[in-house]
Amino acid sequence: MIDKITVVGAGNVGATCANVIARKDLAKEVIMLDIKEGISEGKALDMWQTASIEGFNNRVKGVTNDYAATAGSGVVVITSGVPRKPGMSRDDLIGINAGIVKSVTEQVIAASPDAIIIIVSNPLDVMTYTAYKAAKTMSNKVFGMAGVLDTARYKVFIADELGVSPNQVEALLLGGHGDTMVPLPRYTSVAGIPVTELIPADRLNAIIERAQKGGGELVNLMGTSAWYAPGTSAAAMVEAIVKDQKKIMPVCAYLNGEYGMKDIYLGVPVVLGKNGIEKVIELQLDDQEKALLNTSAEAVKKVMNVLDDMKIF
Ligand code: NAI
Ligand code: 2OP
Repeated sequence: MIDKITVVGAGNVGATCANVIARKDLAKEVIMLDIKEGISEGKALDMWQTASIEGFNNRVKGVTNDYAATAGSGVVVITSGVPRKPGMSRDDLIGINAGIVKSVTEQVIAASPDAIIIIVSNPLDVMTYTAYKAAKTMSNKVFGMAGVLDTARYKVFIADELGVSPNQVEALLLGGHGDTMVPLPRYTSVAGIPVTELIPADRLNAIIERAQKGGGELVNLMGTSAWYAPGTSAAAMVEAIVKDQKKIMPVCAYLNGEYGMKDIYLGVPVVLGKNGIEKVIELQLDDQEKALLNTSAEAVKKVMNVLDDMKIF
């Protein structure tokens, strides 16, 4: 357990994330910060009032734009920004979210210079890069949540197809958090059985496509983006760090030569522990997988160019 965890943005994803963190008793104090007066305070009070029912002890506190209250946080999750509406891609959000992520990260790191920062705001890969630039800290301490969510979606679709428990599905996924993300059937198994022996290629391809468009499916259903699985995914990363679990998770990480790429944030498997990203794992990809990863990286680079054009750094 650590002293303090902060979640910035007390909207759908942030509040869900804080709620999961609180229920798991991961810190002495969980702070939620939002720019909208009263929203964090109200949601935090509501959450805290579940403590005796759920049996947790970590204090949950909400603040309005008060970064002093976040000082000394060991982990900070940044969810602030706008979500997409039907017809929008994640990339359409950059104009608003880049400025928010930059200013929030600068204030977070000023209050908690040693914090490990997990970005959730979209467009994820480029917002994580934005936070890294703004935080001016080591890249192992700034990374993004996407792969945990995207594999969680992929896993339940496989479980549904086979009528088995999602808990026995193991899967990996690479690339950016967009429609070009790369689920890897070669690294997917169910209770140790390669998925390719259980699901015919045409069905598996349909599942992969559904996972790639999994965020959009929910936006179309709800008119805004998802929050239960995203908030829970970010909380799982916080747990791996706080408990020093050394879990291998797909994380949006800074690449400095790994996978032949430099100065880009992209989803890859990493070991997560108390120091943040403790190792980037390089898979031996075949030619087709490499080509798919390169396509995904190209899509992320296009959005990085938009960030460059904004000249906020
Ligand atoms: P939301 O609209 O419910 O919540 C966002 C919150 O951020 C609002 O309460 C808003 O007041 C707050 N906010 C805005 N500017 C702020 C600032 N400068 N300082 C502090 N708080 C500020 O949105 P939701 O659904 O929670 O989504 C949040 C972000 O997460 C979106 O960008 C969305 O696209 C992204 N997202 C990313 C996922 C991923 O896998 N990485 C999954 C789901 C959502
Ligand atoms: C999601 O994948 C929109 O990034 C968000 O649900």
